[in-house]
Amino acid sequence: MKWSKDSWKKFEAKQMPTYSDPEKLNQVVNNLSNLPPLIFAGETRSLKTHIHQVQQGNAFYLQGGDCAESFNELNPNTIRDTFKLILQMSVVLTYATNKSVVKLGRMGGQFAKPRSSDFEEKNGEKLPSYRGDIINSFEFNKESREPDPMRMLHAYNHSASTLNLLRAFAQGGFASLSKINQWNLDFADSFETTKKYKALSQKIEDSIKFMNACGINEQNTRVLKETDFYTSHEALLLPYEQAFTRIDSTTGDWYNVNSHFLWVGDRTRDPNGAHIHYLSGIKNPLGLKVGPSTNIDELKKNIDILNPENEGGRLTLIVRMGAEKIKSVFPDILSEIHKLGRNITWVCDPMHGNTSTSNSGYKTRATSNIFQEIQSFFEIHQSQGSIAGGVHLELTGLNVTECVGGPDDIKDENLGDRYHTFCDPRLNVNQSLELSFLLADLIANGDMI
Ligand code: PEP
Ligand code: CO
Repeated sequence: MKWSKDSWKKFEAKQMPTYSDPEKLNQVVNNLSNLPPLIFAGETRSLKTHIHQVQQGNAFYLQGGDCAESFNELNPNTIRDTFKLILQMSVVLTYATNKSVVKLGRMGGQFAKPRSSDFEEKNGEKLPSYRGDIINSFEFNKESREPDPMRMLHAYNHSASTLNLLRAFAQGGFASLSKINQWNLDFADSFETTKKYKALSQKIEDSIKFMNACGINEQNTRVLKETDFYTSHEALLLPYEQAFTRIDSTTGDWYNVNSHFLWVGDRTRDPNGAHIHYLSGIKNPLGLKVGPSTNIDELKKNIDILNPENEGGRLTLIVRMGAEKIKSVFPDILSEIHKLGRNITWVCDPMHGNTSTSNSGYKTRATSNIFQEIQSFFEIHQSQGSIAGGVHLELTGLNVTECVGGPDDIKDENLGDRYHTFCDPRLNVNQSLELSFLLADLIANGDMI
């Protein structure tokens, strides 16, 4: 089957909304197709090179952000604080591993959500599930839950303003290593993790002073002043992705110019389905979720479809099994795939297999399970002589109470205090920083990458 940007329509597309007005949908897609790109093909090629370095054990992969971004929550301080947190985590990891960190945000486009159930029932009323702000609205009433194509235009505008700010933060001086102490988030000042971070940033400041004295400074060394920060989202809503599928004039290849990196979720990874078909035709670096129900033959098929030329950095497998299942299910998958000798980057998503419902009724995750899954992921790789490349996390720079455990020991009964997520529970600042210190120890002590 010859690929074109809309040939996905000939395949079964799971998890997609049915729009009641197809004409309106077409109009919106046409409209979007004429809007400026958010990212450039050349940037995705740099990212691919960086991810290839992760595969070779020379860099660490850190991807993080909201489960679902929300239109109402778009706020410059929130974007800044999540960006700051990812910078802080990468400093901790770089310091411990002596490796650069490839930073990807689940930001600037993470608006569409797959759902386990098509419907949600409350007080005897049954309505379509919320599928992310790009599709419908969170409020529980009939009108809000109706998929509306106009929401795609809002998503584009929100992505454009988020990305504009991220670029300014990454390249406008805010990410300068000399500001390392200012990345601390005010509310977190008294915590152990912050104290640990402050001690580390002091050491880095001293090293920078030493380098400055030797003549290496922000004026002559770009990496001291700027950082590379990439955007990513799940490629779920295919009409939207189609609108941003454009030919790169320098190479003549098709690229998705909405986000640098796109991934396919655990529920839409059917090798014969529309999502895999769509992704096979674009040249961006891609991710593929590998959940506990993964069938090895299907996974091999997906590897062939998504990376037929065996390019380095093209395909990242994002393993999300859960703290228990990873031990029984992952070793066989890894050894089968490892045998192929293909270019594959392995990353752990310790979030999506560790979701549970608390006694108080909140969807939550325990930081202990999250860390345990990461630890097993690293151990399994080490035992098979394979490289564990990094982590994919749901986190926020806000001081939320959504996951239990961590430095402030959030318990079931505290979840209601600041539970703000529209979808899955995120690690807060202290939990994320603690995780980065634990990871740093794991890598430094085990020499695991
Ligand atoms: C997600 O990353 O938010 C997600 C839904 O993951 P998965 O497809 O692995 O369930
Ligand atoms: Co999620």
